[in-house]
Amino acid sequence: MRKKIVAGNWKMNNNTADTRNLVKELILKGKNLWGKCEVIIAPPFTSLASAIEEARETKIQVSGQDLFWEDKGAFTGQISGPMLKEIGCSHVIVGHSERRQYFGETNQSVNKKIVAAIRNGLIPIFCLGETLQERESGSTFEVLKRQLVEGLKSLVIDNPLRFIVAYEPVWAIGTGKTAGLEQAQEVHTFVRGELAGLWGKKIASEIRILYGGSVKPANAHDLMGCPDIDGGLIGGASLKADDFIGIIEQGTGI
Ligand code: PGA
Repeated sequence: MRKKIVAGNWKMNNNTADTRNLVKELILKGKNLWGKCEVIIAPPFTSLASAIEEARETKIQVSGQDLFWEDKGAFTGQISGPMLKEIGCSHVIVGHSERRQYFGETNQSVNKKIVAAIRNGLIPIFCLGETLQERESGSTFEVLKRQLVEGLKSLVIDNPLRFIVAYEPVWAIGTGKTAGLEQAQEVHTFVRGELAGLWGKKIASEIRILYGGSVKPANAHDLMGCPDIDGGLIGGASLKADDFIGIIEQGTGI
């Protein structure tokens, strides 16, 4: 049985004061929930240390939103795996569609970043998903396959608990539209099949595949009830404690 994961991607929101307040509120309101599923938050870089400090006595895990593939050197503006690890991050998001869309992230750079995350003991949350145009032109599975094959090239995962996939249809992110349950389950089954092709059936059956894109308390239960959906990567709704906690409650069937 795969333990569910609810991860909040805060994107470019919450300064250090907002971060402390939100983490405190989550701890207060969610105290009976910790342990029923894994909870991860991904604040912006400047708020990571505050989040880690506030969450240190809890089961809330803290993730970076990106990392660079080199460990150190002349790479102005970049943050490396060892830096995230040193301050206490456990996870890092790699290949989010906003990175792909606005910052030139490619399957090749995603691949190098996943390698760097694993090399530094961070659990990558590998994001993939098709755009509306790709879906409408019937190339969804071709696009996803390329993202998987190129993004995971030469990687060998032997501990399924230390690798997370997030399927996020780009057209569902921040739009209020979610994939239909059958549509989402179909993709998750496909992704799991591809992972089985890469790393074998046993590993693939234990890797958590999250769904992302306009997840909220009202749809979390149905989405996370799909057999191959093992949790959610939450953007907008992770910025409000009540919504985020609501998703955890719904997602874990309480
Ligand atoms: P959303 O974002 O929940 O606001 O749609 C999800 C994401 O981008 O991870």
